[in-house]
Amino acid sequence: MKKQQLGFELSIFDTSDELSKEEKKVLEAAEAARNNAYAPYSNFYVGAAVLLENGEIIIGNNQENASYPSGLCAERVAVFQAGAQFPGVTIVSIAISAAAKEHLLDVPAAPCGNCRQSIIEYEQRQKKPIALLMKAEKGPVYACSSVADILPLAFSSSFLGDS
Ligand code: THU
Repeated sequence: MKKQQLGFELSIFDTSDELSKEEKKVLEAAEAARNNAYAPYSNFYVGAAVLLENGEIIIGNNQENASYPSGLCAERVAVFQAGAQFPGVTIVSIAISAAAKEHLLDVPAAPCGNCRQSIIEYEQRQKKPIALLMKAEKGPVYACSSVADILPLAFSSSFLGDS
């Protein structure tokens, strides 16, 4: 029997002032996008911004629905829009900003499992890591350099036998 430790390095910045100009810009875009989230059922607002290699920033926010499962998370709205508008253009990073109406959120919200799976497929296709930046309304910024960091042993199309 063998055991393998799986882990990753999470960078924690006390404030966004410690980020690069580019990182700050994409995080600010996610924060602005959060203001337009449609979340009347959860009162949990998420904004996402995808930075592309060509400099474009594509935003998304959570879009809920009275039929709850029909809604979609901010991250998937953003990456699917990036894929639709700029197919084949490499995604450099995705910033995520979350806030709750009922309580002060001061811990960054990481993408849900479904979003991790969706984002990692873009990472696998482009063969270049997609960095993540996460921040709540208050508190620190979490950063990691690849979606694979937060989705170890990820499922991919290779299991389907097509590569
Ligand atoms: N949500 C996101 O937009 N992204 C995530 O990664 C987690 C959850 C949204 C979905 C729903 O509208 C609300 O937050 C509460 O789950």
